[in-house]
Amino acid sequence: MKIYNIAVIAGDGIGPEVITEAVKVLKTIAKIDGRFEMNFTEFPWGCEYYLKTGEMMPADGIDILSKYDAILLGAVGYPGVPDHISLRDLLLRIRHSFDQYINLRPVKLLKGAPCPLANVKREDINMTFIRENSEGEYSGSGAWLYKDQPEEVVIQNSVFSRKGCERVIRYAFELAKKEGRSLTSVSKGNALNYSMVFWDQIFEEVSREYPSVETRHLLVDAASMFMVRDPKRFEIVVTSNLFGDILTDLGAAISGGMGLAAGANLNPERRYPSMFEAIHGSAPDIAGKNIANPLASIWTAGQMLDFFGYEEWGTKVVDSIEQMLIEKRALTPDLGGTASTQECGDEMVRILGM
Ligand code: NAD
Ligand code: IPM
Ligand code: MN
Repeated sequence: MKIYNIAVIAGDGIGPEVITEAVKVLKTIAKIDGRFEMNFTEFPWGCEYYLKTGEMMPADGIDILSKYDAILLGAVGYPGVPDHISLRDLLLRIRHSFDQYINLRPVKLLKGAPCPLANVKREDINMTFIRENSEGEYSGSGAWLYKDQPEEVVIQNSVFSRKGCERVIRYAFELAKKEGRSLTSVSKGNALNYSMVFWDQIFEEVSREYPSVETRHLLVDAASMFMVRDPKRFEIVVTSNLFGDILTDLGAAISGGMGLAAGANLNPERRYPSMFEAIHGSAPDIAGKNIANPLASIWTAGQMLDFFGYEEWGTKVVDSIEQMLIEKRALTPDLGGTASTQECGDEMVRILGM
């Protein structure tokens, strides 16, 4: 029997509420499948932990996590702790320490999911975003000079390395080739005359290795417009850290909302654990009310099963979410239902067991 040890960081706000349901679903699947077992170890790290200890996670937190097969994370960040501290010291620290350079985010409109766009068919929205997840605008490099003085200056550096760009672009090409889909690179070379010109150049270089893959380029401003006006243009999309962050919230908005938006932070070489977390944050506006939609985290758990090689289960999770959206028996308020977080998770377990 294969045993997977999963580190669970439920985190802040709705994090613990949705992660409880994702863990429930994973336990159900492991039981039905019978080939593998999953052990979950919870770590109480996050903003409350910070208020007690002055740290988002212990000093040896990364060492501790490195022993696990994967990390399942709810959400990080809460009023009372500055976001740049909570996110840098926990979420971004894990992504960077474990070289999770691929952020894989499906943007797929399932049957029954609400879509605010007019004249869009379900199959028109079916994209996979590959967001660079280790450097770029999120490098964390910069300075704050003459703080609080009239000459005050801040510098926030973007870092685009050849290795960093090549590996994420190559990953996207491999996926496009495997799936027989087009690849769109989203950049901004007209204004960002170093970083994005370099990105575009590397995209061109790598594209020569993949003559069978149809490629497209869009500037990020036009890409935002086309995601709303003509989303079927996009199949596989590769873009930088910040652009990918912004465009995938837009992607969530056109494919059912934040409550359905899944994502995975991958270290493809499997040298370090990968981390599975939905796109949404801690949603302080609805935290503690048992109405958060757990389906994004459940879909994310499905991505974990994909990554472990149980792709039939990853597909089954998405199909079951679609069934829930069609049947509308236990949807949370963001999807027009009246179910609680827990009832939504229970319904998922019921469908999986059928
Ligand atoms: P958010 O994603 O938490 O919330 C945006 C809106 O979407 C809110 O109205 C919220 O109620 C709704 N929403 C989000 N998830 C939902 C769900 N599962 N079910 C139903 N509705 C849902 O974004 P925000 O308000 O900008 O950020 C709140 C905090 O979370 C901040 O501290 C931010 O830095 C942090 N954050 C963390 C992550 C992460 O940990 N991965 C991601 C994004 C934001
Ligand atoms: C996300 C989040 C994070 C990001 C924040 C919380 C640092 O918005 O995962 O999309 O920008 O990557
Ligand atoms: Mn985001």
